[in-house]
Amino acid sequence: MKVLVAILFFGMILIQFFPINKENPKPTPEMDFLNIKSTPSKTANIIRESCYGCHSNETNYPWYSNVQPIGWFLKDHIDEGRMKLNFSTFATYEPKRQAHKLAESREMVEKREMPLNSFVLGHPEAELTDAERAEIIRYFKFIEDDTRLLNDLPPEK
Ligand code: HEC
Repeated sequence: MKVLVAILFFGMILIQFFPINKENPKPTPEMDFLNIKSTPSKTANIIRESCYGCHSNETNYPWYSNVQPIGWFLKDHIDEGRMKLNFSTFATYEPKRQAHKLAESREMVEKREMPLNSFVLGHPEAELTDAERAEIIRYFKFIEDDTRLLNDLPPEK
């Protein structure tokens, strides 16, 4: 038993020597979703607080991201979140992909799958009230429809 505790203890210390990379990619405001769509600040703030932690290059890392394995867990979500949808580089997406990502965003928020529960735990301000949820669903739909209209794209099946 003592040996096991000792191994666990030194294991926990050892993994602290493998921190995550917390450097954000260079800011690209000219490609940022909220900027290019001139999102009203009230709506923009909701999206920034509840989605930008993982779906942008503007991640603010909490202090506990310095503690492993928590940091590894957070970084995994951020890497995967950015890969699937990065609002910071939204302008580089083809119109069809933009419309699709907005449809998915709406669906994820409707189903309460996003923001991830584990994120809300550490960021209470990211929790959406019913009014905020309705507001960003409406906004994602509005921009999706606009994108489809301007680019002659059919509605999503
Ligand atoms: C804690 C990090 C985190 C936060 C905050 C977060 N997401 Fe995600 N999101 C992820 C991860 C990880 C995935 C991929 C795994 C999955 O689908 O569950 C994902 C997947 C998605 C997808 C699917 C993309 C695809 O191509 O499949 C959409 C859309 C999405 N998120 C939208 C949002 C929106 C909108 C918000 C804010 C209301 C948000 N997310 C908040 C981490 C996050």
